[in-house]
Amino acid sequence: MRRLRPPLLLPLMAVLAGCSGIQTIGGREGRDAALINDLFTIFCIVTGIFFAAIMAFLFAAYWRRRGWRADRMPDEEVVPSRHRALRLGLFVWMGAVIGGLMALAVASFFTDRSLAFPNPGRKPVVSIELTGYQWWWDAKYHFQDASKDFRTANALHIPLGAVTMIYLKSNDVIHSFWVPNLAGKQDLIPGHVNDIVLVPAKAGHYRGQCAEYCGLQHAHMALDIVVDSPADYARWLAAQTQPSATPTDPRALAGYNYFMRRQCSACHTVAGTPAGGQVAPDLTHVASRATIAAGTLPNTSGSLYAWIADPQGIKPGNNMPYLGLNADELHAVVAYLETLK
Ligand code: CUA
Repeated sequence: MRRLRPPLLLPLMAVLAGCSGIQTIGGREGRDAALINDLFTIFCIVTGIFFAAIMAFLFAAYWRRRGWRADRMPDEEVVPSRHRALRLGLFVWMGAVIGGLMALAVASFFTDRSLAFPNPGRKPVVSIELTGYQWWWDAKYHFQDASKDFRTANALHIPLGAVTMIYLKSNDVIHSFWVPNLAGKQDLIPGHVNDIVLVPAKAGHYRGQCAEYCGLQHAHMALDIVVDSPADYARWLAAQTQPSATPTDPRALAGYNYFMRRQCSACHTVAGTPAGGQVAPDLTHVASRATIAAGTLPNTSGSLYAWIADPQGIKPGNNMPYLGLNADELHAVVAYLETLK
């Protein structure tokens, strides 16, 4: 068998790598994503058949007329039977084109209606207000009993099989919510509330990405979405609604004191503490998240050190300033953040 040479293999691998994983347009782990994929498949099949037919006619014409030259063209009279066959062929082709376009139009219409009315008779179980900032996501979970509302950032958990309604807002410029495994795109527009419904069909960890260019760090505006079983979701909710506890470990306590007395608390909220800043991600349970800085870094000690020491080096242009902590302060703040499970 002929082996594919690297120049051929690399682009092929790059293309195929997009077909699986936590952020893929081939994903069918949500109701909307499956509908969109079905429509895409229908388009591929119909347009593929027509492409193949047109190519076949093109090559047939080429082979029939090989060696054709105008000066050697015999006087050819069109035989009546050939004329009829040609006319019939044209009618068949026209019918096929109209039929194909009708099939695409009907499939588009039904997919569109299904996406527009996603939950006939089913009330949303979860209601989230998601606000886009340059360049991170603020999430507020709303409940009938407003005292249970809580905030989180850059990481959502939603229950499997249930209807989650997400209200989309923006604090600055237009962003776009896009978790391809679960649903299509929806814009977050300043001064306007959009919404999107998620009905996940498979538990797992997915990745969303801002899909509208929104400035320097647009590419670093990702979102972790975890689809939990109902029991796991209930456990997560119970943990999220808990305020943070004051640390007992001396180093973490020193970090807590630094956090509350210096700039951090002016921008960030940690529920259950005096820190109530509203302009930066809520850090109440930051240690329970998979990533930091809106999906830019995995949530490890090393990442926390790097981020706090030099946020502009990692994500230039973001609103977190250089704080100039000394080594002891840096150790202490990282130790404190790691207690925020
Ligand atoms: Cu937000 Cu791109």
